[in-house]
Amino acid sequence: MQKVNLAEKIYYLGFNDRRTHLFENIWPIPHGISYSSYLIVDDKIALIDTVERSFIDDYLEQIEDIIGNREVDYLIINHMEPDHSGALKAIVQKYPNVVLVGNKKTFGFVETFYIKPQKVLMVRDDETLDLGKHKLQFQMIPMVHWPETMVTFEETNKILFSGDAFGSYGTLDGGIFDDEINLDFYEVEVMRYFTNIVGKYCPHTQRAIKKLAPLDIKMIAATHGPVWRTNLDWILTRYNKWSSYDLDLGVVIVYGSMYGNTQKMAEVIARRIAERGIKNIRVYDASKTHSSYIINDIFKYKGFIVGSAAYNNALFPNVEILLSTIEHMAPKNHYLGIFGNYSWNGGGVKNLLAFAENIKWEMVYTPVEEQGALKPGNREELIKLADAMADKLLGV
Ligand code: FEO
Repeated sequence: MQKVNLAEKIYYLGFNDRRTHLFENIWPIPHGISYSSYLIVDDKIALIDTVERSFIDDYLEQIEDIIGNREVDYLIINHMEPDHSGALKAIVQKYPNVVLVGNKKTFGFVETFYIKPQKVLMVRDDETLDLGKHKLQFQMIPMVHWPETMVTFEETNKILFSGDAFGSYGTLDGGIFDDEINLDFYEVEVMRYFTNIVGKYCPHTQRAIKKLAPLDIKMIAATHGPVWRTNLDWILTRYNKWSSYDLDLGVVIVYGSMYGNTQKMAEVIARRIAERGIKNIRVYDASKTHSSYIINDIFKYKGFIVGSAAYNNALFPNVEILLSTIEHMAPKNHYLGIFGNYSWNGGGVKNLLAFAENIKWEMVYTPVEEQGALKPGNREELIKLADAMADKLLGV
């Protein structure tokens, strides 16, 4: 591959993964994902993060193509998750004098996952490492996305090596910099990466944004997705909005239905909300749409209405999986409505109420529960539920 420079003597070393179906073996990535590492060649040579293990051979070759028979002096470990540390052991084996640069939480992970580190440099907030013309400054941003996560700021060219932060699903199909790609396509991929992977850590992301604000950042080089050098406001504005739960006017309606009765209840609610003038309404069948996409829309819209058929006296299983994921991520600032259906005994609404108790979103109306086919009385109740949600969202 052609050499790609972020600045003089700063190289992009990235790979596209179009084979993996599920990122973290959980989240669908129909458009793949990229893994990016960076190399700074100076009096001293530093690598910033590595790549996923399936690319080790090509990665080592790319490094050698650039530095020849020189040694890598430092491996900066911004983040230890194996999609970025996968080539760590190979780097240490090839360059045995390499110094691993991390913080007090990094090296325990190195030992747990790979090897007992021999040469290490432990850094703290604001500390710097001089490579010659390039000076690196470190800032800790814990839980964006693991406890050891930090960022590296290259002071000469003002490049922030940000780890997962500001990353994206989607391979880099030729374009590597943000001004070489169609941002409309990547907006979906960036947001789903954020909500799926970093979404649980919104308060930590907010702290990181505030902490990094004083830096005069001219470029952001994440470990997934495009390098941001032109549209920094585009990505920073979105990250700030999403991580502060700044939600749009709209409703996500999700149902789990075996024979269609719970689905019909969802349709009644959706129609009424549309009649009230709300246009952002997304209705999902929890058995068909992966929670990755539903969670993403929950991070967009303020209203959430969920309905479940009873299944063996419990929640419909696919609704249960979704709700446990939502509880785990615990997004804030939502209004909630619930409904359900049963054949011989309850189980749906009873457990939806337990979800409501845990998630602590404001319930807009009493739960509506039907037995079998929808009857006129409960149809009216569903319309009232929809009206209560619309009233809240419209502020009437
Ligand atoms: Fe891309 Fe948290 O690793």
